[in-house]
Amino acid sequence: MTIHHKPALHLMTSQTQPTYNAAEDKVVFEDVSKTYPQSGAAAGSTVAIKSLNIAIKTAEIVSILGPTGCGKSTAMNMIAGFEFPTQGRVLLDGKPILAPGPDRAVVFQQASLFPWLSVFENVVLGVKSRGISPDVYAGRAEQLLKAVKLSGFEKHYPYQLSGGMQQRVQIARALISEPEVLLMDEPFGALDSQTRLMMQELVLQLWTEFRPTIIFITHDVAEAVFVSDRILLMSSRPGRVKLDVSVDEPKPRSQDFLVSSSFVDLQASLLSALKEEVH
Ligand SMILES: Nc1ncnc2c1ncn2[C@@H]1O[C@H](COP(=O)(O)OP(=O)(O)OP(=O)(O)O)[C@@H](O)[C@H]1O
Ligand SMILES: [Mg+2]
Repeated sequence: MTIHHKPALHLMTSQTQPTYNAAEDKVVFEDVSKTYPQSGAAAGSTVAIKSLNIAIKTAEIVSILGPTGCGKSTAMNMIAGFEFPTQGRVLLDGKPILAPGPDRAVVFQQASLFPWLSVFENVVLGVKSRGISPDVYAGRAEQLLKAVKLSGFEKHYPYQLSGGMQQRVQIARALISEPEVLLMDEPFGALDSQTRLMMQELVLQLWTEFRPTIIFITHDVAEAVFVSDRILLMSSRPGRVKLDVSVDEPKPRSQDFLVSSSFVDLQASLLSALKEEVH
């Protein structure tokens, strides 16, 4: 019997500026550096990111892996429009990002739901405050709550939900404005491994349904390989892209991928590259 391992994974280093195409690329970091000024008792300014060049295509799922403090959240906050580069530009559809907007939604590590609002009210709060008609948002909220497997929990309050369920409410809340870019900053870091895997499968399923561009920050190498089309591994601070790896496994993906040789090989290469950065 011959077993064919398809050459699913390409590994390449990315030291140079990538070629990008304004028509295809959703998010572009163009020679971006970010220095935080000295604050409080901290000595000196902090160079969080230095000369970062990234091009992320429309509907791509890209994970960012890297040691703590290498600037992952800083990069994501610049896409969200919460922070701005001190050098270079961050572009969305070819235009510099100047502010947050409904075209980008963020899912944070800790569920950030309003405890006094029900699941339904938490999901629709943003669209409601933008003056969208209840006829439009109520149907959309029901559809999303079904997609994140929370039908029947509309009237529950956050304290009545598990951590995984709270994260699913956050995802529904993020998707209700039909964002083109979904930013996920260690969204499942606080969950147990079984719930985590279920949430990773949910991300892939939601991508199939809604096709957003997804930028996913994680410390978990296996999680990055399972959900991503591409993984950017950042060096320690100041962060730059050390490896740019394609995961050419078709989506939807099943748990069989987790035990395939291509998965295990890529996981091993990434773990060893990450280890070099942590020392
Ligand atoms: N608002 C801020 N003011 C000053 N320094 C900051 C600010 N935000 C981040 N930093 C500094 O910038 C560097 C990068 O921080 P960032 O939060 O982007 O890292 P990270 O890669 O997301 O880390 P982690 O994996 O721990 O979440 C750190 O040294 C941090 O102290
Ligand atoms: Mg962070």
